Amino acid sequence: MTVLIAPSILSCDFANLKAEIEKAYEGKADWIHVDVMDGHFVPNLTIGAPVVKSIKKCSKLPLDVHLMITDPDRYIEDFAKAGANYLTVHAEACTHLQRTLSHIRSMGLKAGVALNPATNPNVLQYVLDDIDLVLVMSVNPGFGGQSFIHTAVNKIAVIRQMLDNSGHSNVLISVDGGINTETAKQVAQAGVNVLVAGNSIYGSNNVKEAIKNLRESALVGSKN
Ligand code: DX5
Ligand code: ZN
Repeated sequence: MTVLIAPSILSCDFANLKAEIEKAYEGKADWIHVDVMDGHFVPNLTIGAPVVKSIKKCSKLPLDVHLMITDPDRYIEDFAKAGANYLTVHAEACTHLQRTLSHIRSMGLKAGVALNPATNPNVLQYVLDDIDLVLVMSVNPGFGGQSFIHTAVNKIAVIRQMLDNSGHSNVLISVDGGINTETAKQVAQAGVNVLVAGNSIYGSNNVKEAIKNLRESALVGSKN
């Protein structure tokens, strides 16, 4: 199965954001992954909707916006107006998850749910009709360059089965954190559709080559 590659700009050179985004496009990435952190839900701060709006102007690729923020409902309209294509919220950050997901879709966006490493995938069971994407966190969110937490592999397999057995095979599974050529094989074997990678793409000296290597590793994994 082919996978989509979503480079995370968290590890790129922010002084040259436009050029870094173009490198991903030229390297045949599929999406641009944008990490939004609020210093509350996660112990780090990054960027907000105004920067996403600027990124939109220079990206030919869809924007996959990952909100690591408490009370995301307050900002859904801002990110929709800024040009997000996929908008993903954390299940742990939403008191009324179904309402938040419908709100995202009502703005014409694709809705995603992210799960921290310790979160049980059963939380998805009653929102399967409301989602386009599940983002399985394979690190505790907040920082790039962390090591892959292996329990994510089994969690992806469990979610894949949950989706296939309930007539929701069209929902994409994405994985985020510690993805490199080794871990890409394992998650591809478990049935992932999208690889988010920061350090292994923007930390390398050849973005195009890194994207190609990840894609090939996923292909090897899915054949095993
Ligand atoms: C982590 C972010 C990730 C991060 C992944 O909280 O959600 O998207 O950029 O970085 P790597 O691939 O370096 O683990
Ligand atoms: Zn992310």
